Amino acid sequence: MTDLASLNAQALAAIDAAASLDALEAVRIETLGKQGSVTALLKSLGQMSPEERQTQGPAINGLREAVTSAIAAKKDALESAALNARLATERLDMTLPAPDAHAGSVHPVSQVMDELAEIFADMGFAVAEGPEIEDDWHNFTALNIPETHPARAMHDTFYFPEDAGEEAKQMLLRTHTSPVQIRTMLNQKPPIRVIAPGRVYRSDSDATHTPMFHQIEGLVIDKGIHMGHLKWTLETFLKAFFERDDVVLRLRPSYFPFTEPSAEVDVGYTLVNGKRVIGGSEGWMEVLGSGMVHPRVIAACGLDPNEYQGFAFGTGVDRLAMLKYGMDDLRAFFDGDLRWLKHYGFAALDVPTLSGGVGA
Ligand code: PHE
Repeated sequence: MTDLASLNAQALAAIDAAASLDALEAVRIETLGKQGSVTALLKSLGQMSPEERQTQGPAINGLREAVTSAIAAKKDALESAALNARLATERLDMTLPAPDAHAGSVHPVSQVMDELAEIFADMGFAVAEGPEIEDDWHNFTALNIPETHPARAMHDTFYFPEDAGEEAKQMLLRTHTSPVQIRTMLNQKPPIRVIAPGRVYRSDSDATHTPMFHQIEGLVIDKGIHMGHLKWTLETFLKAFFERDDVVLRLRPSYFPFTEPSAEVDVGYTLVNGKRVIGGSEGWMEVLGSGMVHPRVIAACGLDPNEYQGFAFGTGVDRLAMLKYGMDDLRAFFDGDLRWLKHYGFAALDVPTLSGGVGA
C-alpha cells in the first residue's frame, strides 16, 4: 500500500532529521505514541475483515518494527555523539609538561632532623620523644639540678603559674631535650640507644638565640660504656652529617650537672676565601655538650650506677643547619619569609638517605 510506504518513508526521514534526543522523542510520540500515526494503523486492524487483516497485519507490524528500530539506532547515535562532545571538552592533555617549580619545600630544620635520624638509625639509635610542657622534676631535679642549683637560673626558664592547690608539680616549657633521657630510662630497660630531637624554650632573643629552638639529645646506657664510645659516636655522626672525612673533633673538659666527666665538643674549620668551612683544624667551633651520664641521674631513674654506665650528648639542630648550609641569622629560621624558604628549603622528594647523600 502506498499509504504505508509513504508513512514509512516520512517517519524514517523525521527520525533521520532529529538533531537531538528531545526531537527524537517527539518523533517517537508522533508515530508510536498513544495518538501516534503507526499506533492508529495498528488500532485499525480491529475493524478489518479477516482477509484484509491477513495482508495488512504483517505490513503494519513491519512498519512498527522498522520505525522502532530506526528510533533505537538514532538514539544510540545521538547518545554517543553527546558523550563524545562532553569528553572532548573535559580532555586533559597529558603531554603538557608539568610546571617545573615545586610549590612547597621542606624547612631546613625538618630536613636536618631527618638527616640526623637517618645517620643515627644507621648506628642503631631509635627516636625517643617527650613533652614540651614538662615538670621541673624531669627537666631539672632528676638531672641532678636541685632547686637551689645555679644552673636553674642559667636556663632562663618559662614557668607556668604555680598551681596553688595540692602539692602540684611546677610545670614549665622544657629548656633542653635532656628530660627525654629521664623519661627513656624510666620507661625502657638497658641497653638503651636513643636520640630525641625536638623543640625547647628559653627566654632569650638575639641574632644567635630565639625563645624557641631545636635540640637533639643522644643517650646510650649499657654495661661497660666509656668515653671512647662517646668520642667514636660523635666523630662518626659529625663526619656523616658534614659529609667530609677530614672532620676533626676537640673534646674540652666542661661542666654539666647531669654528666661526669663532661666535655664540650668543638669541630675544626678551615678558612676558605674568608669563610669557615668544616674540616681541618685552623679554628674551632663549639657544636655539642656531652659527657658520661652522672651516677646520680642513673640512680634517679631506678638503675644501679655500679652496673650501668652511659653517655649523653645534646646539640642545637638550628645551629647544625646554620653550619652545614651557611646561614648566618638564627631568627630567619622562624620568620616564615618565603624568599628565605625558597632559597634554603629542600624539595619535598629530596629525602636524606646515607646511600643517596644526607644533604642537598
Ligand atoms: N642539655 C644540655 C644543654 O642544653 C646539653 C647536654 C646534653 C650536655 C647532654 C651534656 C649531655 O646545654
